[in-house]
Amino acid sequence: MKKETFEAEPMKVLVIGGGGREHALVEKISESPAVSKIFAVSGNAGISQKALCFSLKEDDFPSLINLVKKNRIDLTVVGPEAPLAKGLVDVFQEEKLSIFGPCRKAARLESSKIFAREFMARWGIPTPEFTVASSLSQALKKLEKETYPVALKYDGLAAGKGVRIVSQPQEAISFLHDIFEKNIFSGDEPAVVIEKALSGLEVSCLVVTDGISYLPFAAAHDYKKALDGDKGDNTGGMGAYSPSFLLDEKTGQIIEKEIVQKTLRGLQKEGIDYRGILYFGLMLTEKGPFVLEYNVRFGDPETQVILPRMKNDLVEVMQATLAGRLKEIRLEWKKEKAVCVVLASAGYPGHYQTGEVITGLDRVKDVIVYHAGTRKDNNGNIVTAGGRVLGITGLAADLQQAREKVYLAAETIQFSGKFYRRDIASYPVRK
Ligand code: GLY
Repeated sequence: MKKETFEAEPMKVLVIGGGGREHALVEKISESPAVSKIFAVSGNAGISQKALCFSLKEDDFPSLINLVKKNRIDLTVVGPEAPLAKGLVDVFQEEKLSIFGPCRKAARLESSKIFAREFMARWGIPTPEFTVASSLSQALKKLEKETYPVALKYDGLAAGKGVRIVSQPQEAISFLHDIFEKNIFSGDEPAVVIEKALSGLEVSCLVVTDGISYLPFAAAHDYKKALDGDKGDNTGGMGAYSPSFLLDEKTGQIIEKEIVQKTLRGLQKEGIDYRGILYFGLMLTEKGPFVLEYNVRFGDPETQVILPRMKNDLVEVMQATLAGRLKEIRLEWKKEKAVCVVLASAGYPGHYQTGEVITGLDRVKDVIVYHAGTRKDNNGNIVTAGGRVLGITGLAADLQQAREKVYLAAETIQFSGKFYRRDIASYPVRK
C-alpha cells in the first residue's frame, strides 16, 4: 500500500501590539520554518519590515476577529496586558480561533493588584503584609498604622504608573488624592493596596505554562527608572540584561517551589486554566524571594533580551502550550549574554515630542534594533512615535562586550531628544 505523507500547512500568525516586545516576538516568529506570513495590529516601522500591519484598536474585538477569519490566520499572539484583561482570549476561544495568552479570569493576576495579593495570601506564596482600601478616608486611616517606606499600588492597570514607593506621609496622601479625588487612572471604583515596601534586588522570572506543566525562561533584570543610578520616574523599562548572574541555584529552586509551583497549583485549584506566559516580578530580599507583582504576558524590554537567546522555535512552544503538550518540550538557550538599552524621547515617561527623524539605523553593526515607538512618515523617513523609541540588543560572550556593542550603536543612532541610560547591565538593580 502506498505510504501517505502529511506536510503541515504553512501558518499565518497575527501579533497584537506595537512595542519593542512585539517586534522581538515578530522577529522570533519569523524564524519559525512553520510560518509563511505574519500580520500585526498595529505594529511599528520595524515590525512592518516582517509583518503586514493593520491599524486597528487592540480592544476592537469584532474587527480583530474579522481580520483573523478573513485572512485565515492560524495563531494570534497577544503582546500587551490590556486586551488580555478585557477578555480578548475568551472572545477568540468562543469563536474557536487559536490564540496565545491567558483568559480574562487569569489576567486578573495582573489587572487587579488586590486579586493578586489575595491570591498569593490564599496559597502561601511569599508576599509582604498588605491591606486594601477602597476610599480615601479608609486609605488614610489604614496608613496611620504603617511604618515607612510604604508601597501604594493602584488596583487596576496603569501602564506602569500605578505603584508609588513613599517614604513620608505627605507623599502618600498626595498620591492617594490623585487616585481617589482626581481619579487619574480613570477607574470605575478606585482602590489601592497598601503594603510595606520591600528592599533587595529585583528580578523578572518568566515561565511558559499550559496550565499543568511549565518551563522557566532565562531570568532577566529590568531597569525601570528613567535615569542612571535608578533615579527619576518609573518607566515601562529602560533596559535589561539576561541571564541573571544574581540568581544562584538555591534561590532558583526556592522560586520554583515556593512561588511558581504554588501559583500554578493555586490557579488549578481555583479552576483557572492558565495558558501562556506568566511573569513573576520578584524581589530577592534577606528573607528570601518575594513576589512584587504578576504579569500575564511577556515583559518589555525583558523579551528583547530573552528571545534572542532562545534556541527553540517559539511557534512550536506556543502550539505545545495551547495543546497541553508542554512537557514534551525542552527549552534551550544560547550561551551568550544579552543586553538591551532603550533609546527614549526626551520627557518620557512624561510629555514628549514625536515625529523626530531617526538616522543611523543603517550604520549600526552586530546588534539587533527592535522598534518600539516608530513609524514611517509621508517622505519615507522613520520617525519617533512614542516615549520608548528603540531597543538595541547586543549578544556577546560576556555582559561587558555586549554593552560595548550596544552603546556604540546607541551613539550611532540619532534623533532629536534621544536619551538613554548609560548604566544598563553595569550593576544590579537594587531597591
Ligand atoms: N518591564 C516590565 C514589564 O514588562 O512590566
